[in-house]
Amino acid sequence: MAGKKVIITGVPGVGKTTVVNEALAKLKSEGVEYQPINFGSFMFEVAKTEGLVQDRDQMRSLDRADQKRLQQRAAQAIARIPGNVLIDTHASVKTPKGYLAGLPEWVLREIMPDVIILVETDNDQILMRRMTDETRTRDKEGTRAIAEHQQFNRSIAAAYAMMTGCTIRIITNADHLLDLAATDMADVLR
Ligand code: AP5
Repeated sequence: MAGKKVIITGVPGVGKTTVVNEALAKLKSEGVEYQPINFGSFMFEVAKTEGLVQDRDQMRSLDRADQKRLQQRAAQAIARIPGNVLIDTHASVKTPKGYLAGLPEWVLREIMPDVIILVETDNDQILMRRMTDETRTRDKEGTRAIAEHQQFNRSIAAAYAMMTGCTIRIITNADHLLDLAATDMADVLR
């Protein structure tokens, strides 16, 4: 039987990777296995080899044609992975020239997801998480800009559902309620 392809999205700092790790730990004890894949890491490996960037946060400022080419290469490589796959990526990427679709037609055609999950939380919680994360070079923006990005992601997710027939699930990852978010995600993955 073909594996399930699930895409996880959310604005930077919403905590999608944290929720994914918790959800997978829950499922493992039940024998449900998913291979977690970070879309950005696939893009970054190629971009670094080509000398385009030194860290993953620089990819958002690359030339649009380079970002599209890297997206396509990542999608083709991920589509070949067998079994249940969980793809950690972005519904849209905020670039200096505007929002770039994270899952344009040439990416969706390769992956054909069963479900796209949007991880969300309050804008001020995201702002605080970005400010306290010293491991990354997070974009500096206020709560209004974060709200716009979360709203844009809902709109573009609707277009992805129209293109593929996949379902869209919204999961809230609120402060101190990580376990609830992970339980919700595990329910979608079962
Ligand atoms: P990527 O690595 O996916 O960037 P990111 O969005 O910054 O992802 P992170 O995993 O770092 O963020 P997260 O929100 O999941 O946060 P975390 O779990 O760490 O992608 C890198 C780059 O690749 C992109 O910028 C883009 O250029 C490119 N890219 C990727 N996909 C692309 C695509 N499809 N097309 C084009 N380009 C693409 O959590 C953050 C913090 O919150 C942590 O400190 C954590 O402890 C805390 N936290 C989490 N949950 C909670 C909670 N419930 N309560 C309190 N704190 C919490």
